[in-house]
Amino acid sequence: NEAEFILALETSCDETSAAVITSRDGRPEIISHEVASQIEAHQKFGGVVPEIASRRHLELIRPMIDSTLEQAGVDSTQLTATAATRGPGLVGALLVGFAAGKALAYAEKIPFLGVNHIAGHIFANFLVHEDIELPFLCLTVSGGHTDLIYFSRMIEYEILGRTRDDAAGEAFDKISRRLELGYPGGPAIEKKAREGNPNAVELPRALSESETYDFSFSGLKTAVINYIHNQQQKGNEIDTADLSASFQRAVIESLLPQVERAIKNFEPEALLLAGGVSANSLLRSRFESLTEKHELSLYLPPLDLCTDNAAMIGAAAYYQLAAGHSHDLGLDVRANLSL
Ligand code: KG4
Ligand code: ZN
Repeated sequence: NEAEFILALETSCDETSAAVITSRDGRPEIISHEVASQIEAHQKFGGVVPEIASRRHLELIRPMIDSTLEQAGVDSTQLTATAATRGPGLVGALLVGFAAGKALAYAEKIPFLGVNHIAGHIFANFLVHEDIELPFLCLTVSGGHTDLIYFSRMIEYEILGRTRDDAAGEAFDKISRRLELGYPGGPAIEKKAREGNPNAVELPRALSESETYDFSFSGLKTAVINYIHNQQQKGNEIDTADLSASFQRAVIESLLPQVERAIKNFEPEALLLAGGVSANSLLRSRFESLTEKHELSLYLPPLDLCTDNAAMIGAAAYYQLAAGHSHDLGLDVRANLSL
């Protein structure tokens, strides 16, 4: 029974990250983990610049692999598998981690696994929570995705609903940019919202009444932009804190009805949250109330595993490798890979 050491890499967007994952009591465990954020490099552009992201990943990936292995006290010859994010993400950024993961697997003659980034976000929960009950529902809310997924078994799932336009995190980022609060928008809006009144500005909650599990945020975004425009035309000053608080609440309340509908119809044992937006404290508390009301367990990723990181990619790879999966080295990245 030799020790398992999975080297996982994540370079899908603006975070370069590497982790070594091992197995303990049938669950994935982090031995070492590094995340280098490029936020500063992109901040002045108000969003991620793909070309800059790829170059940064390229500079960082090799030294980061070395230092992550060193911290783990693991030699590359001891690795039992490598894994890297296959998509969705920026194609040039994905290629850096994917090529590095494949090259190392080829050199060491070990299995390679291309991991779906959204699955990674979901499996972050399995690094910290024991005995998550099945079946469970998972709401993945990130900068690129808003998906409601029903898991009947560990690697068997059905996507119940998704956003029809913008992702929840994207809405935060776009409105933050409009309010000149900075990038990434979610944390900036959350901070500003603390000083504001969430009932100050009336905003729509899309699809909350209809019998769907889908989400929509473009109407809300337009409503905020129109509100700003109208106030400016009237010569009124905009209270950024009030608008941030009202907007944040509207985003969260555009997520709740669909999830509650799925809880009633599917009767899951647990609800999981995943993705960058699940770091939002209003979202966390509103989902705590919802799951208390329906008497089911709620599992949240710790704050440092909500946003992009390689440990979550390693966790997803761990379960897929355990199920006997691995990929041919001819596999390529996919910018728009779906779950
Ligand atoms: O999961 P993630 O790191 O990257 C993607 O896979 O997209 O998520 C990043 C997104 C950004 O849109 C960011 O604004 C949002 O997560 N975010 C938040 C918070 N922290 C990050 N949104 C709301 N509240 C937060 N505290
Ligand atoms: Zn992500």
